[in-house]
Amino acid sequence: MIHKINFDLGVIESAPTTVRSLIDLRGYFIDEDSFNAAVQKNPVVYTLSSLEYAQGEGQLHCGLGTLMPGKIGSEYFFTRGHLHTWRAAAEVYLGLAGEGYLLLEHENGQTEFQVLSPGQIVYVPGFTAHRTINTSKTPLTYLGIYPAQAGHDYASIKSTNFRHVVVEIDGLPQLIERNEYITRYLHL
Ligand SMILES: [Fe+2]
Repeated sequence: MIHKINFDLGVIESAPTTVRSLIDLRGYFIDEDSFNAAVQKNPVVYTLSSLEYAQGEGQLHCGLGTLMPGKIGSEYFFTRGHLHTWRAAAEVYLGLAGEGYLLLEHENGQTEFQVLSPGQIVYVPGFTAHRTINTSKTPLTYLGIYPAQAGHDYASIKSTNFRHVVVEIDGLPQLIERNEYITRYLHL
């Protein structure tokens, strides 16, 4: 079967596609009032087309993600983010359309903030939680390629979230520690 990206729709039409709407991200954003207002319309936040060619050792899977532009309060739209169930499994991301970032958080606490734009290749090491963030006004589309045995652990992120947030401050995207943001900006 031929698999081809439909850039207009941001999906691989031949692959199963998961749609995540805002209600699926309840509890992830800092500003609950803004979330509760926005969730009334429950916009699509991102889609993920998954190509699982084969299972087992040595095989590869890939996923095409398209993350819509938008914000909840000052916090840009993001994917839930995950660790791999097989923690050692790495992944390669390739930016295809739009502008945004990959937020990487190693299990040792080290955080990296990598640009994800067309042609940009980002290596996600093992033992590293990863989340994409759209800081632009157009959809962000990217491809991720990972071991078939990687698995996705969303629950760990849901319970702890990332230590940093990406928010608009003075019109620009900024990476800031979650607790610092809450203390300095949220209740002004
Ligand atoms: Fe991944």
